[in-house]
Amino acid sequence: MKIVTVIGTRPEIIKMAPVLDEMEKMGIDNILIHTGQHYDHDMSQQFFQDLKIKKPDYNIGVGSNSHGKQTAIMMESIENVLIAEKPDIIMVQGDTNAVLAGALTASKLHMAVGHVEAGLRSYDKTMPEEINRQIADICSNIFFVPTEESAINLLFENINPNEIYVTGNTIVDACNRHLKIAENESNILNELQITGDIIILTIHRAENVDDPKRLKNIVDALLELNNITVVFPVHPRTVKTLKKFKFYDKLEEAPHIKLIKPLGYLDFLLLLSKSKFVMTDSGGLQEEAITLNIPCITLRYNTERPETVKAGGNILVGTDKNIIVDTYKRISTDSTLYQKMKNAGNPYGDGRSSKNILKAIIDEYDNGKFDIKLPEHVKSFIGREVLKIQENITVSEYEKKYHGSTVNMIFMNNEIKFPYSDVNLRDMNVLINKFKSY
Ligand code: UD1
Ligand code: UDP
Repeated sequence: MKIVTVIGTRPEIIKMAPVLDEMEKMGIDNILIHTGQHYDHDMSQQFFQDLKIKKPDYNIGVGSNSHGKQTAIMMESIENVLIAEKPDIIMVQGDTNAVLAGALTASKLHMAVGHVEAGLRSYDKTMPEEINRQIADICSNIFFVPTEESAINLLFENINPNEIYVTGNTIVDACNRHLKIAENESNILNELQITGDIIILTIHRAENVDDPKRLKNIVDALLELNNITVVFPVHPRTVKTLKKFKFYDKLEEAPHIKLIKPLGYLDFLLLLSKSKFVMTDSGGLQEEAITLNIPCITLRYNTERPETVKAGGNILVGTDKNIIVDTYKRISTDSTLYQKMKNAGNPYGDGRSSKNILKAIIDEYDNGKFDIKLPEHVKSFIGREVLKIQENITVSEYEKKYHGSTVNMIFMNNEIKFPYSDVNLRDMNVLINKFKSY
């Protein structure tokens, strides 16, 4: 089996590192494409060093550009690589333009696509990431979802549950693997002369940092949080707009704010683990915060990680200055609330996500599932029905017995459940999709 993996930005490098590591350990023929969307040493090369990832086999060097141009250049180059390498499957991760380019290009070549972190939805189409993740899922053939909640999002888009694997999120693998190394190797606390409590802050979402009004609200809120040290490794996009809108100097002059360059993964992870709070608009950081038991305040109005909010570890505050400041004050003065946030359960699994992903890939490959079917072999959808099951029968037994039926959703105690193959359906209401093969 041959796998081509496409990565392009900091979070993809971090979250695919454990998967790439697993491929190497298993001796799988794997080719790595770096689109070069992130190219500064601090945003790319540093992570290859920290996470000990092999040098990319191809670097497209796309750099920064408008979304259309950037995606088009990536697609053209990825297409050339895929035609030359002829992989069995292309792996993409998350929701960046690299994911869009990789998944769309591969699906047009009738190659199988595996999407790591599939099924996340904010349902906010103003975010480029929401468009990217929805399109990537349309193009994908095998879905590695971090939680049951993400799996259910896909069921509502009529994705076949047999193609969905609830694997956990590879960020937990990355945190678990690297925190111990960071504790031994990173000297960041001394370098930054950190003594008391800190908030670790990151912002880079286009809708926050490119909008002067929202950015001003965030900056004004930060200036008010002057009873705690705010450590702010600034994303290059944010440096640019903080300077453009003339907020950079104000932050730099504030004694409680430490503006620093983006950190490598080991330094960042150590600092994060020692933080009292996370304040962020990052996706990955919401996941890492709950993994490391750090209460998270998210500077967004919605999230594609609602599990973190439901679990109680994350509060969405948007970008209103007063709400940001009041929420921070509330959590920092109410120790019961603080402890409750800290103790929120981690919905993202036990750190074996990359192993789960590779196991699913191998099983699917062995069953010939990566061969894209020709029209005469594509099962034709003939309808759906809701049934109450009387038999003592599991999902997989039902699908074997009633050939052409798939159990799409289970309705249990007013909740929708994912139809794991070993769930016994007796007395349950289920949604069945029916297919006919020619
Ligand atoms: C991208 C992803 C976003 C992800 C983020 C992770 C898309 C649409 N956006 O956003 O989903 O959360 O990466 O960090 O794919 N720049 C540099 N050096 C670099 C990279 C970028 O200076 O190495 C600057 C450039 O001025 C560039 C700007 O940052 O124009 C934005 O970069 P871009 O890759 O377009 O988007 P990100 O904001 O990084
Ligand atoms: N991160 C890092 N150094 C930093 C800031 C973030 O290593 O200075 C890591 C962080 O631990 C997380 C990832 O970058 O794993 C998140 O990336 P980012 O916020 O850029 O993207 P998003 O997750 O929002 O797509």
